[in-house]
Amino acid sequence: MRLLRGSSLLVALFIATAVLAQSAPQLDSTLPDIPPVAAVTAQHGMVVAQEAQAARIGVQILERGGNAVDAAVAVGFALAATYPRAGNLGGGGFMVIHLANGTNTSIDYRETAPAAATPDMFLDARGEPDLVKSRDTGLAVGVPGSVAGLLMAEQKYGSGKLKLADLIQPAIELAAGGFTIDDDLADTLPRTYERLTRWPSSARIFANNGAMLQQGDRLVQPELAATLRAIAQRGAFGFYAGRVAEQIAAAVRAANGVMTADDLKNYRPIERPVMRGTYRGYDVIAMPPPSSGGVCLIDMLNILEGYDLGRLGRGTEAFHLEIEAMKRAYADRALYMGDPASVRMPLDELTSKAYAARQRSSIGPRATPSADIRAGAPAREGQNTTHYSVIDRDGNAVATTTTLNFSYGLGLVAEGTGVLLNNELDDFTAKPGAPNAYGLVGFEANLPGPNKRPLSSMTPTIVLKDGKPALITGSPGGSRIISTVLQVIVNALDFKMSVAQAVQASRLHHQWMPDETDVEPGFAPVALDDLRARGHTLEPTPPYSSANSIAITPQGYVGAADSRTHGAMAVGY
Ligand code: DON
Repeated sequence: MRLLRGSSLLVALFIATAVLAQSAPQLDSTLPDIPPVAAVTAQHGMVVAQEAQAARIGVQILERGGNAVDAAVAVGFALAATYPRAGNLGGGGFMVIHLANGTNTSIDYRETAPAAATPDMFLDARGEPDLVKSRDTGLAVGVPGSVAGLLMAEQKYGSGKLKLADLIQPAIELAAGGFTIDDDLADTLPRTYERLTRWPSSARIFANNGAMLQQGDRLVQPELAATLRAIAQRGAFGFYAGRVAEQIAAAVRAANGVMTADDLKNYRPIERPVMRGTYRGYDVIAMPPPSSGGVCLIDMLNILEGYDLGRLGRGTEAFHLEIEAMKRAYADRALYMGDPASVRMPLDELTSKAYAARQRSSIGPRATPSADIRAGAPAREGQNTTHYSVIDRDGNAVATTTTLNFSYGLGLVAEGTGVLLNNELDDFTAKPGAPNAYGLVGFEANLPGPNKRPLSSMTPTIVLKDGKPALITGSPGGSRIISTVLQVIVNALDFKMSVAQAVQASRLHHQWMPDETDVEPGFAPVALDDLRARGHTLEPTPPYSSANSIAITPQGYVGAADSRTHGAMAVGY
């Protein structure tokens, strides 16, 4: 096994070349720099995930003859134990799958609103959005989809060589036996003290004598282990029926939610045809709604395809065009997008080359004010999801992004289950024009409703060349997920960066509203001055998101663990 830590200093030795413009003075020198991203090359298989133990477990599954889907499922369960802020049993996610036999498909295991949800469930007595309801109470909890989604992936696309119990066993051992707290877990647990300890069931697991567990302490989760064992033995019934389901529903209701055991019994993941686009001779396969990721990504790529970015190079002009593409795609996201079960969306139009050409015709040398693109409202922030990329020796590839929404979700562990619950329903639009926690404005298309899936930005993506994987990518980052994935792809395909450079390169983000561009550290001041001169409002932001990616190259599989979170790791064999 060859492995490298995303945050290790040793990693610097493996960096191919300095990333363009990274060495220039920062916009705001008080912000931390982006650490170097390592590249790991291997011939047979690769897992890149945000937590090292889970990444290793995935590779062990590959080494035992499992395929990429088996490995992804094992990583998913392991992350529930080792990366509780976003790996989960109590949340949801999306998986994009490319099989070497040419099959492309996706699994939507997004959380659903309970049957008793209503369009006004997140409003206060005056009819205004009540942020406590949608973020901090049981009302925010969507019916968890992760277990059903991982099981569906395994049943339909696993190799059949390993049993479900084999894939869950490493997670059971980590939960039951415990492990030493390190890396991102050590970084984030102290910050989450209040969110977790207001629930006694969570405090018992994540705190000790009133203090949060910290670096070097052991995290032991016997109740989570018991829930994982129930799934290993009884499949979906171990989670969605019987004791675990009843305890989850009871915990949500005790926190002022409306979820019932029937909501859990009725949860179904959905296999969906992938969202497809093309970009400069590559095929892009990504998530369809209820993720907005695929549609927005393909729209932005279509817009940018009309410019010779390779010739322009990674500088002001290209940045300007990227920002303008982002504004237009995010505006459409706000207006049109929601759960496909309840809203009709002009998806063919939004992802067509002709539509992109029309959008391009409104892009000039200066920034287009967002207000001129369409009306909406302001706000934002966030980064607590997780993405992992997997490929096996046959070229089967999986891109998976999962989340509890906020870091550690609602912070509530359902008593007796070890399952940390999400607050995903804040991704609904509480009221037309109102922003969610990431500042994403929405309208009628994304109002809450019974059994509805809230619109997501998660963008697990596989780029194919001649039908074979070329790049596997995705990211956490709330609203910034889609623009992160866009830039990784453009950096790799247009600017010919290595995957490590493409992941490390400083990122920009514009989401239509508010009308400003977030700018990571590391851009050349002259480029930023040029952007300001064109009318862009720039907001310095600390490094964000984490695009754990794999490039498929003539030299082998090259994994790049994003260095923006501690402990991300690329493991190959
Ligand atoms: O599904 C979504 O778009 C959000 N709930 C994702 C949240 C997220 O990425 C948090 N931060 N990294």
